[in-house]
Amino acid sequence: MATEQEPLTLPAEAMRALGYRVVDMLIDHRAGLADKPVGRKAERSTLEALLREPVPEGPGDPAALLDRLERDVFPNMLHVDHPRFFAFVPGASNFVSVMAETLSAGLNCFAGTWYAGSGPAQVELVVIDWLRALCGLPDGAGGLFVSGGSMANLTALAVARSAILADRTDGAVAYTSDQTHSSVARALRVLGLTDDRIRILPSDERFQLPLDRLAQAIATDRAAGRRPFCVIANAGTTNSGAIDPLPALAALCRAEGMWLHADGAYGAPAVLTEAGSVLLDGLGGVDSLSLDPHKWLFQPFETGCVLVRDRTLLRDTFQVMPEYLRDTLGTAEEVNFGNYGIQLTRGFRALKLWLSLQTFGLDAFRAAIARGIGLAELAEAVLRAGDPAWQVVTPAQIGVTTFRYRPAGMADAAVDALQGRIVEALMAEGRALVTSTVLNGRSVLRLCTINPRTSDADIRDTVADLARIGAALAAETNGDAPAIHPADPHSAAIGAA
Ligand SMILES: Cc1ncc(COP(=O)(O)O)c(C=O)c1O
Repeated sequence: MATEQEPLTLPAEAMRALGYRVVDMLIDHRAGLADKPVGRKAERSTLEALLREPVPEGPGDPAALLDRLERDVFPNMLHVDHPRFFAFVPGASNFVSVMAETLSAGLNCFAGTWYAGSGPAQVELVVIDWLRALCGLPDGAGGLFVSGGSMANLTALAVARSAILADRTDGAVAYTSDQTHSSVARALRVLGLTDDRIRILPSDERFQLPLDRLAQAIATDRAAGRRPFCVIANAGTTNSGAIDPLPALAALCRAEGMWLHADGAYGAPAVLTEAGSVLLDGLGGVDSLSLDPHKWLFQPFETGCVLVRDRTLLRDTFQVMPEYLRDTLGTAEEVNFGNYGIQLTRGFRALKLWLSLQTFGLDAFRAAIARGIGLAELAEAVLRAGDPAWQVVTPAQIGVTTFRYRPAGMADAAVDALQGRIVEALMAEGRALVTSTVLNGRSVLRLCTINPRTSDADIRDTVADLARIGAALAAETNGDAPAIHPADPHSAAIGAA
C-alpha cells in the first residue's frame, strides 16, 4: 500500500541521497583547497541575472538545485578557510564542528531553557567553564555562546551598563582606544550612549591604550559631573594584534569603580600558547571578555562567546519571565541560557566546540594556534629578507603583521594608493587574498595568518606575489612598464576564472 508523504519531507532514500551529496560537497571543497582559487567577488548584475526569479510554487529537484548552487553561488564568495586567505580574520573552521552544526540543526536543539534543552544546556555549561578556566577567569565566572564578537561585545556592555549604571545612561561615559573594533562603538550606540559619550583615545606608539591619557580623561569627565563607567580594552586588535595593558587597566578600573571589558574576539585564544599567555597576562582579571571561537578556535561562523566575571550579573541584566514561560522557571540549578542574553530561541552552538575539542584534544588546538603565531613571524622574516621596498610597520604579533610596499622615492600619498591597488591586483589573480588597513594615518597591507593549514610555502609565495605586483604597479605609476606579469600560467587561469 502506497503511503502518503508527510508534509515538507522527502522520502528516506531521497533524504539520505541529499545528505550524502552535501557531505561529498563539503569534503570535495576541502580536498586540494590550496590548489583552488581563494574565491571571487561577482558583479551584482551578473548575480541578478543568475539568481533573480519569482518564488517557486511547485517542487524542485534538490540534486539539480545543489548543482546550481555549486555553479552560481558558492564560487562567488571568498573562501575564508583557504590556506592563502590572509584578509580580515580568516575562518579556518573544521569539519567535525561542521557536522556538529548539522546535527544540532537536524535535531533542532533548543538551547534557550533547561526545560526544553537540559542536555544542550549542560554541555554549554561545561564548554563555557572550559573556556573560563583557559582564559584564567575565576570560578564564579560564567557566560554563554552568542552569534559572534559583535553580539558578545553588546552582551557584555549591557551587563556593564546594568551593573555600574543601573541602566541609566545619562552622563555615562565609556573609554577605549582608536584601535578598538567598530562593533564596540555600535554596541554602545545600541545601549544608548551617544558618540560624544564614547572617548576614543589615541593609541600610543605600540597601538595600546595609554594609561596616563585614560586616567586624565576619566578625571576630566568626573570633574565635569559625568559618570565614567566602563573601559573597553583590546586583547588583540584586528589591525595589528596589539594588546592593551590589562593588569594596569584592571587596577585602574577597580580604583575608579568602573567596569573593564576586554574584546578578545580575535586574540583571546592566543592565551592557550606559551608566548600568547605572556602577552595576555591579566586576561583573567577583567570583568567581562568577548572571544570568538569562529575565529581562532576554528569553529564555523556564528560561534561567539561572552564571559562575565560574576555570572549572576548576566541573569540580573537579562532575565524576564513572562507567564507563557512560567513552566520553564525550574530550580536554581536549572540554567536558562535564554535569560543570560538577548536570544530566547537559540541553537546549540556549544556542541561545535564540544565535539571538536573532544575529537582533536586541546593540545591540537594549542598547536594550531601556535602555528598561526609562527606563520606571522615567518611572514615578517620573509618580508625583512625580501624586496628592499618592503617596510614592516608592525612586527608579527599573535598572528598579524602589517607592512607597506614603499618604492624608493615614492611620495607617501602615492605609497598609500599603491597598497590598495596591490590588494585589488592580488584579488584579481585569485591565488591569495590580503587586505589593507590604516595605521598612523598611512595605508598598510596586513596578513592575518591564523589558518593552521597554511604552509610555509603559502607565506613565501604570497609575499613574492605581493612584491611582484607591487614592483609592476610602481613601475606603471612611474610610466616604466605596462602590466603585471603573473608568476605562472596557473595564476593567469585563476584570474580569468
Ligand atoms: C577584535 C574584534 N572584535 C569584534 C569583532 C566582531 O566580531 P564578529 O564579526 O564575529 O561579530 C571582530 C571581528 O573581526 C574583531 O576582530
